[in-house]
Amino acid sequence: MRYIANRSSGKQGHAIAGALAAAGMRVTLVSGPTQEPTPAGVLLKPVESAQQMLDAVEAALPADLFVGAAAVADWRIASAAEQKLKKSGDAPPALQLTENPDILKTVAHHAQRPALVVGFAAETEKVLEHAVAKRLRKGCDWILANDVSPATGTFGGDYTSLNLVTAGGIETWPHATKTEAAYRLTQTVATYFSTLRDA
Ligand code: CTP
Repeated sequence: MRYIANRSSGKQGHAIAGALAAAGMRVTLVSGPTQEPTPAGVLLKPVESAQQMLDAVEAALPADLFVGAAAVADWRIASAAEQKLKKSGDAPPALQLTENPDILKTVAHHAQRPALVVGFAAETEKVLEHAVAKRLRKGCDWILANDVSPATGTFGGDYTSLNLVTAGGIETWPHATKTEAAYRLTQTVATYFSTLRDA
């Protein structure tokens, strides 16, 4: 075993950054390691840990919009070994974990909170119920909820089925490519800001 990870590819976050930039928005993309090419017109800030991601996101504030699409690990190793861990006895070593910062929650409660804070909810059961609770728990405005059970192929795949959860209710979006979903989100964001402007 070389590392423990999830199958998130970064495709959705990159597609969203690209779609927002294509619509004329100034976009900073804070991304963990990925195979995805950097979208045109986007300022890339590469990071390797949750703390680095939080630092880079805070450095990019103030902003009008925050979209948190990264599948951030909830936990990290409490103390990384300086030396190789040698086998001793038969029992596998116990991994001591400690909690990572919650970037979405931090941004949603930030002194420089963006006007619109959007998160994702990766769920494998009770998708909508969990997403509705997650929106309130994180303090964000919108949650894009999806089922990431292995059978759906969402994690790492090109397609997604999203549900937009807002204070006003739930809107189920059609099964689509992550690029199509990114353009739909961009359109929804643009409509939201033009409504705010006209209010
Ligand atoms: N997220 C984050 N920082 C973390 C963990 C998650 O910013 N340390 C963000 C994700 O980018 C996503 C949202 O929080 O926008 C929900 O992530 P998800 O993995 O679905 O939920 P968790 O916060 O991990 O909650 P739970 O484990 O209870 O499902």
